[in-house]
Amino acid sequence: MKFFIDTANLAQIKEANDLGILDGVTTNPSLMAKEGIKGEEAITNHYKTICEMVDGDISAEVLGVTFEGIVEEGKKLAAIHPNIVVKVPMIKDGIKAIKWFTDNGIKTNCTLIFSAGQAILAAKAGASYISPFIGRIDDSGWDGVQLISQIAQIYAVQGFKSEILAASIRNANHIIACAEAGANVCTCPLDSILGLLKHPLTDIGLAKFLEDAKKM
Ligand code: E4P
Repeated sequence: MKFFIDTANLAQIKEANDLGILDGVTTNPSLMAKEGIKGEEAITNHYKTICEMVDGDISAEVLGVTFEGIVEEGKKLAAIHPNIVVKVPMIKDGIKAIKWFTDNGIKTNCTLIFSAGQAILAAKAGASYISPFIGRIDDSGWDGVQLISQIAQIYAVQGFKSEILAASIRNANHIIACAEAGANVCTCPLDSILGLLKHPLTDIGLAKFLEDAKKM
């Protein structure tokens, strides 16, 4: 399973990248706004900086919702750097645009996936990645990880090539469950990635080894 970090914060991207386990980055308009990135030039420069920091796929989301708008914007985003993946919302014009990008050799990430039907349509259009939002599904009383399993099963039976990118991760357990359920990628906040490091027995064991090392 690939690890992406789900943030536009450069310090957090650097910290995850320095671990040596990072395969890419996902952003969205909320994450970009949180970092105070405003205006076309600043947005372009921010994506450029991220692409220079991390050698992997970097998802940059379009803001338009019409076929023409999404294609225009997507072409500009893709021109920023070869590693840019154009992130497109799961709407009718989005699916048309994903098909256009697929036919024109531009990688896409279909975002805001909340059902298996949406995942099937996005795969048919040729999306490179599809992003089920598992945390938001859990928040609404459904089971996000169950959706990852269902999509993984359908893609395996049908031979769909889109990679399942589990998004809206809330904790380390989500990452483990998504790995088990067949996600190809998990995009995670830094805290959730670091949460994977933690086990009290590791801390106790290390303290004892360090204490005994003084006797060596
Ligand atoms: C990433 O691609 C998604 O936009 C992101 O994971 C959504 O996360 P949230 O539900 O925590 O906003």
